[in-house]
Amino acid sequence: MAFRRLIPSPLLGLLSFLLLHPITTTSTVGAGTRLGLIRNKPYSSNIPVFREAPAFRNGDTCGSPNTTGRIHVAMTLDANYLRGTMAAILSMLQHSTCPENVDFHFLAGDFDSDIFLTINSTFPYLNFNVYHFDFKRVHGKISKSIRLALDQPLNYARIYLADILPADVSRVIYLDSDIIMVDDIAKLWEVDLEGKVVAAPEYCHANFTKYFTEAFWSDPDLVRTFQGRKPCYFNTGVMVVDVDKWRKGDYTHKVEEWMAVQKKKRIYHLGSLPPFLLIFAGNIKAVDHRWNQHGLGGDNLEGKCRNLHPGPISLLHWSGKGKPWLRLDSRKPCTVDHLWAPYDLYRSSTLSLEE
Ligand SMILES: *[C@@H]1O[C@H](CO)[C@@H](O)[C@H](O)[C@H]1NC(C)=O
Ligand SMILES: *[C@@H]1O[C@H](CO)[C@@H](O)[C@H](O)[C@H]1NC(C)=O
Ligand SMILES: *[C@@H]1O[C@H](CO)[C@@H](O)[C@H](O)[C@H]1NC(C)=O
Repeated sequence: MAFRRLIPSPLLGLLSFLLLHPITTTSTVGAGTRLGLIRNKPYSSNIPVFREAPAFRNGDTCGSPNTTGRIHVAMTLDANYLRGTMAAILSMLQHSTCPENVDFHFLAGDFDSDIFLTINSTFPYLNFNVYHFDFKRVHGKISKSIRLALDQPLNYARIYLADILPADVSRVIYLDSDIIMVDDIAKLWEVDLEGKVVAAPEYCHANFTKYFTEAFWSDPDLVRTFQGRKPCYFNTGVMVVDVDKWRKGDYTHKVEEWMAVQKKKRIYHLGSLPPFLLIFAGNIKAVDHRWNQHGLGGDNLEGKCRNLHPGPISLLHWSGKGKPWLRLDSRKPCTVDHLWAPYDLYRSSTLSLEE
């Protein structure tokens, strides 16, 4: 058995003790040191350690949290973005009037019990489910985009939400892992979809042309896709989805069809976003821009710092190449990253052991 990472020697002593006296639950050890993820078998994965978030309880106005009043949130779980996900969860709970009414649905590629333990030890009171997203589902369907990170199978999991979520979930808020909620999520949840399948902020001043290639715009059959609607850009990192309508309309299949077209003839540059634009742009329920201050990660190609757009803010989104936790760690944060830092629950890199 070897230690994969450098562990300070007092911790090493503690670890040897714990290895000799294995415990399966989270426990408080020594001078308030909270050690999650201690278990009686060595780690197989590379999961960071987080400190425990406080308990968030419903306010008096919430009523009894029962099935009718639940708010369903779906996110992906990936060891590389876990620090972002944890911060995002904390931000949602902290700004909710009725945090106990929120149900989290996590989609994970590796169906690893360490992930349950990590969430349990960080948020002992969280209502959540973890679902396995089988990468085979998108095998052979993903085309290379301009950025490797966009080609990860888990990025495509949002397309399969309607298949993966339990049948009694009829509406869901899908959120990327690089977001911070600074408002009550219930306000976004209650949006009137007015018969649309998707609600999101839309950006009609953005140059829509650039999301598709010359090959697309020069093919009259393809261009006809947008006939009868005024397509506007929207970001798929924050969406309210009518899951029932999605199921009935078989939109999963429609997205997959566009992915097949892309495989044959490169019609766009980005990953999972353009098929959503092809199907829904100009036909979504537009919500206030405050619900997605996107692009805070910086430019897709250059990775520059971005400032906040003017106007009220309910959700901050570090879409783009740069992630706040990486920039903070490298001591070269952008100004907006200081807005993310208070939600960081990261404690240390994995106390990981190998056989
Ligand atoms: C759920 O809660 C609401 C408000 O507290 C209540 O009116 C309703 O009857 C409850 N439904 C069930 C199924 O318990
Ligand atoms: C996580 O916590 C829930 C609720 O307390 C419990 O049912 C579940 O078994 C726990 N999972 C793990 C892996 O500890
Ligand atoms: C929009 O983008 C396309 C493709 O990049 C470019 O050719 C066009 O000039 C742009 N239009 C405006 C109004 O900026």
